[in-house]
Amino acid sequence: MMFTNKQFTNKIRADFPILNQEIYCKPLIYLDNGATTQKPKQVIDAVSKFYSETNSNIHRGVHFLSEKSTLHYENARETVRQFVNANSTKEIIFTKGTTDAINLIANTFGEKYIKEGDEILISEMEHHSNIVPWQMVCERKNATLKIIPFNDKGELIFEEFEKLLSKKTKIVAVTHISNSLGTINPIKKIIEKAHKLNVPVLIDAAQSIQHFKTDVQELDCDFLVFSGHKIYAETGIGILYGKEKLLEALPPYQGGGDMIKTVDFEKTTYADLPLKYEAGTSNYVGAISLGVAIDYLQDIGFDDIIKYEKELLDYATKKLSSIKGLRLIGTAKNKASVISFILENIHNYDAGTLLDKMGIAVRTGTHCCQPVMKHFGIAGTIRASFAFYNTFEEIDKLHDAIIRIQKLF
Ligand code: ALA
Repeated sequence: MMFTNKQFTNKIRADFPILNQEIYCKPLIYLDNGATTQKPKQVIDAVSKFYSETNSNIHRGVHFLSEKSTLHYENARETVRQFVNANSTKEIIFTKGTTDAINLIANTFGEKYIKEGDEILISEMEHHSNIVPWQMVCERKNATLKIIPFNDKGELIFEEFEKLLSKKTKIVAVTHISNSLGTINPIKKIIEKAHKLNVPVLIDAAQSIQHFKTDVQELDCDFLVFSGHKIYAETGIGILYGKEKLLEALPPYQGGGDMIKTVDFEKTTYADLPLKYEAGTSNYVGAISLGVAIDYLQDIGFDDIIKYEKELLDYATKKLSSIKGLRLIGTAKNKASVISFILENIHNYDAGTLLDKMGIAVRTGTHCCQPVMKHFGIAGTIRASFAFYNTFEEIDKLHDAIIRIQKLF
């Protein structure tokens, strides 16, 4: 099925009720998919049906609804396992999101393996959520955070990574795709290199999981994290993938229900994976929505999604680059469907506000990546991030809207 076929694009858009509305009397053009994606009615309906027919707490009851809820939840885990090609469902932990998953690893791995003088390696283009948890570990343990720099196109400098990697490095944590620049990082090469020194690697897949096929065994990453809401599912749900033997060796994180085997005032024993890391009542409805969203995407087919989003990116890059006074921030050779830019003499917030009045939703500011902005010496960018339901006509409208704004100033 060809995505460029208008009829097909219309069919996809019909699955997303929110897209069919006007903002300030203008058809909504939603280009803030990097922040969160919209939800297809398949996900919305499944959640509504679940609450109407099945809802009950998981892993806790012998009654019919509880067992049914548990089955849905564990089926969703199996869907995720297959989707990322993990070896076992023990390796798939439901979390609140990417940030929660990174904090889980930073805390448990940090607790067990990071000692004074050790180094943790991240990159200059990380989202704050893949900086701050590691900084906190370094402060607690008197360790050092080392930063892989990027060049002015927004590409990681691999030779610098090679230089920084050493016997002192205890873990590497890098993003697959930069949320602010759109750069696709060579994570397979990074993982291979780190593994030569037996250094484990955590991949932040928050911005890649919805755009590319992810195979954790093929990548051989040690940990991989992502959020449900960026892949067309609900908010408040995310995934931590971890190699079973690594997760087994780490200490528990949060204490509470579901993560225990036995509790006694003398000694508590912990549940086996994956529940060891799922304290309290998990967001089981979010997990179920994630399973439905993954099924939905797989029905459409990732090959078509990848192809179409690449066409959108190429078209938007060409179209926006033609605007005088517009500077693209992030011009890496390998990019995903994210375009960050600044406009000469126009503050990004002003541009974002005016675009909004024309029905166009973009994100403005630092995108939780202040070090990236510092690198370029700018206050922030305007970011248009595309999903497979966006159209070429919407890019034309973004282009025309920018020209209008420039004229206004
Ligand atoms: N991390 C999200 C973004 O890039 C919120 O917009």
